Amino acid sequence: MLRSDPPHPAPLPPRAGGGRVAARQHGRAARLNDKIVPTDIAARLATAVQWPGALDVEDRSWRLVARTPDFDAWLIAWPTGGKVELHDHGAASGALSVISGTLVEAVPRRDETGRLSLVHNELRAGTTLGFGTGHVHDVTNEAGELALSLHVYSPALTTMTFFDLEGDHLVAKGLRWAYDGSEEHDPALDLTSWAGAGAAGW
Ligand SMILES: [Fe+2]
Repeated sequence: MLRSDPPHPAPLPPRAGGGRVAARQHGRAARLNDKIVPTDIAARLATAVQWPGALDVEDRSWRLVARTPDFDAWLIAWPTGGKVELHDHGAASGALSVISGTLVEAVPRRDETGRLSLVHNELRAGTTLGFGTGHVHDVTNEAGELALSLHVYSPALTTMTFFDLEGDHLVAKGLRWAYDGSEEHDPALDLTSWAGAGAAGW
């Protein structure tokens, strides 16, 4: 199933041996002290999952890779100009791993004067970015080539609220995404076959 908007919750494996992890939360095991580590799952899945079919999407498109009580995982294809507006991830923390291409994340930051503005982070292929609950960002493919990324949320993503940056405030928009169970796992991306290949038993 392909759709063009929202959710964000959205691989090729150009990396042998994994990539850079841009933010905390990285651990060697997918489960660390019985705790899900989204950066680890995202980095590992990113090397194991491929977009099924032709990668010629015209709009930002995604596939649900896995959905468990503890986390879900989404594969997202970003054509040039593909963007998701400022949003949070409900109660979930998460991670995104850039598989190919380059994405730009914009994060609201308040400076010492109280001014709120967007700080931009370039996320190149091989980068895994982790974020905690309450993280707000937008993500854009500003490059001239398609980008592919793997996103993990824990607990599984159920809601997203979208925001506008107005003056020095984030203002919630009426637009809110909620998981309705309609997304189907694509058999080509079945996590069980990957887990059975030697990953931690989920
Ligand atoms: Fe996001």
